[in-house]
Amino acid sequence: MCGIAGYVGPRKAVEVVYDQLKRLEYRGYDSAGIAFLEEGNISVLKRAGKLSVLGEVVDANPDDSHMAIAHSRWATHGAPTDLNAHPHMDQYEQIALIHNGIIENYLELKDELAHDGHDHQFFSETDTEVAAHIIGEEYATGVSLEVAVRQAVKRFRGAYSMVVISKREPGKIVAARSASPLVIGIGVGENMLASDIPALLPYTREMMILDDDQVAILTPEGITITDLNGKEVPYEIMHIDWDIAAAEKGGYDHFMLKEIHEQPEVMSRVLAGRIDEKGQVRLDNVYGEHVWNEIDRVSIIACGTSYNAGLMGKYLFEKLLRLPTDVYYASEFRYGDPILSSRSLCIFISQSGETADSLAALKLCKSQRMRTLGIVNVVGSSIARECDRTILTQAGPEISVASTKAYTAQVLSLIMLVLHIAQIKETPGVRSEQVVRSLRNLPGIAQRVFELEDQVKAVVQTCKDANLFFFLGRGADAYVSLEGALKMKEIAYVPTQEIPAGEMKHGPLALITDGVFAIFGATEEHLRDKVISNIKEVQARGGYVVAITTEEDTSLEKAADATLKIPRTGQTYLDALLSNIVLQLLAYYFAVARGCEIDQPRNLAKSVTVE
Ligand code: AGP
Repeated sequence: MCGIAGYVGPRKAVEVVYDQLKRLEYRGYDSAGIAFLEEGNISVLKRAGKLSVLGEVVDANPDDSHMAIAHSRWATHGAPTDLNAHPHMDQYEQIALIHNGIIENYLELKDELAHDGHDHQFFSETDTEVAAHIIGEEYATGVSLEVAVRQAVKRFRGAYSMVVISKREPGKIVAARSASPLVIGIGVGENMLASDIPALLPYTREMMILDDDQVAILTPEGITITDLNGKEVPYEIMHIDWDIAAAEKGGYDHFMLKEIHEQPEVMSRVLAGRIDEKGQVRLDNVYGEHVWNEIDRVSIIACGTSYNAGLMGKYLFEKLLRLPTDVYYASEFRYGDPILSSRSLCIFISQSGETADSLAALKLCKSQRMRTLGIVNVVGSSIARECDRTILTQAGPEISVASTKAYTAQVLSLIMLVLHIAQIKETPGVRSEQVVRSLRNLPGIAQRVFELEDQVKAVVQTCKDANLFFFLGRGADAYVSLEGALKMKEIAYVPTQEIPAGEMKHGPLALITDGVFAIFGATEEHLRDKVISNIKEVQARGGYVVAITTEEDTSLEKAADATLKIPRTGQTYLDALLSNIVLQLLAYYFAVARGCEIDQPRNLAKSVTVE
């Protein structure tokens, strides 16, 4: 996600916010900018590229401002250019706005502005500039900056955090948050904010986390927090005693563990603005009804973890939409002379959007005039730009080479796509009140999975000398087990055998002996009896069995040697998705027990841009 910084107080504000952006560089970005108030005017300096490019411009424009906001952008709407960089101003040049996240309905809002009788000139392709104009119109009615922001954000749909300053109210910064992190730093005679704790630590250790649908008003004298109706709300001040390195990892020992724990928040971001108050799924920038009624086959093409997410896509497309779906390794697809038809849809899943094999497969599909849809975490990346349509996974920057939150965001994006298609095609029994309720409750239920963390550590103590792991399951659990196995291989360097549980007897069972650990996923209730039979097959040959099931189940704990019970979501495919969090934790703690590197595993790269 982008970096946000803001400062108001006696220091040189531009120096402070520039330093804060530097402390957020680890999060990844492709342009940066600063807005500051001086002598009654707002100046905006912004450049594409690295922070040092902006630094040259800042150095050339000495100032004595005591209020500034700054932003490092990770392209969402619009390529990384000077014009698309933040901050953006309103049409009256009264305010400057910076923004993290996505405003899903920005095109609708842009259309409303085009008909409001005022002259709206847009200089960028961003949703942010539209938001600035919406706030500008509210502000032009003469209300205070915080009232203008509160009125405007009620019209925005999506996951975002935003920060605004104005010419009319020097010494005041206003911020609003919906599902995208914003931290307020509390100083003495100065106050500040940022999208992450490391940016604030050199200036203060007293902080508060702004909550969803809250607005913060910062002045040098203090801060006020209100809800969207302007009612003041109490808040808790935290004392952060992390060092800088720990802060970049959110206090966790590794980025991987931080990113595993971020998943409930990522789920909130993927869902934000995509289920309306009537429970209807709203997915922007995908094909129209006529296309979905024409598509008779889906080909999903990806690599690694993204391929494993694609398998969950197959499960969803075939089980819920009865749409035949193939999943291909991109490296095989491009040389496999694939059978493609004009009624196929090719879906490319990629966290980085730069994977060479996936990009080459995409170009092959485009050369045959196929419809292409990207499910990508880095918009503005090659795959995102090449695809006809793109769904943003909004997982935020994933630093650890082993992909965790990106997988969850990819699968959840596929679920939203399937529900969107089911709604358009009026496929019965797919999008229901119960499904919508399960999705709305998902982030909170996912948070409860972490109550199992100590039990996972105990299981790791039992299997720390294992030299072979089986990852087994049936149905959706069989697909999730592939991802669990990949994590174990990637960061603990342990050999694994991952197959549908029913396949063991056709050969791999020969590998079972004392010291082999079998991790069974068994979240699908109707398959549990079969899974129990497979558990017995393993135990009869000396294997040790760990079962992952749901909390109401009592059958598996009688059969397995150790059982981990996740909370139920109400949907089998969501239960399976949550069980993957347990597999991530298992691989992580096992690798830590073995003293492995974790975030930068040997031989691997975060983005494989070579064939
Ligand atoms: C997953 O943990 C690995 N980092 C790797 O398999 C990765 O998923 C694969 O290289 C695909 O990358 P992409 O999603 O960026 O295309």
